[in-house]
Amino acid sequence: MRTPMIAGNWKMNILKDNDDFPEQIYVNKINEAIKEKDVEVAIFPPFTHLGLIYGLADELPDNKSFNVGVQNISDNEKGAFTGDVSAELVSDVGGNIVILGHSERRSIHKETNEEICKKAKIAIKNGLQAVICIGETDEQNQSGDTLKVISEQFEKSTPSDIDVNSVVIAYEPVWAIGTGRTPSIDDIENIHSSLRKYISQSRGEEFANSVRILYGGSVNAKNGAEILGLNNVDGALVGGASLITEDFVKIIKSL
Ligand code: PGA
Repeated sequence: MRTPMIAGNWKMNILKDNDDFPEQIYVNKINEAIKEKDVEVAIFPPFTHLGLIYGLADELPDNKSFNVGVQNISDNEKGAFTGDVSAELVSDVGGNIVILGHSERRSIHKETNEEICKKAKIAIKNGLQAVICIGETDEQNQSGDTLKVISEQFEKSTPSDIDVNSVVIAYEPVWAIGTGRTPSIDDIENIHSSLRKYISQSRGEEFANSVRILYGGSVNAKNGAEILGLNNVDGALVGGASLITEDFVKIIKSL
């Protein structure tokens, strides 16, 4: 049984003391939704908000399904790396999960599969679960290369010989992120099940059957239920809609 995960990627948004976004209410409402469903939630605020959100989640009476993490870590463990944040520093202030290889980092910051794999090893070693993102561009999609691209990204970005619970895979078509466009429901299921088959050949059946594969890219309160109802979709990585409390709660409750 794979417990679904709903993840909220805030990207570079939300100032503190923002009347339109009271963090305490956000955390409390999410927690109420978690209690109604068999689900794990992970919130990825900017680094500057990690302590605040972790602190609020930590005060909840039963918070084991409420994870708080970051959107990136350094590919070095410690030392003189001005401006970087290590896995150990994140873990030290309560973070237990990290997004790695998001398409914005792959394209804007030119992160390679090899760097992502190195970060994943460091994350896992420091007790962080690694959410490894993979996804094809519009052009690769048009030329029918989706599976080839994402299986290669999976293969090279995901360390071998790891506990299946230390990673989560997020399939996010680059062309669906922040655009309001998504693949068709059939395409999402087909890609997820083909990817799981590939993972089975590469890492064994037990690993493939246990690893969670999230879908990400324009998930919202309207399409959430249909996408999350698919057999091989084990949750969602949500960007824009995770910043609207009612919408994010609705996505969790639509499981
Ligand atoms: P979106 O972003 O939900 O706004 O499309 C998803 C993501 O970037 O993880």
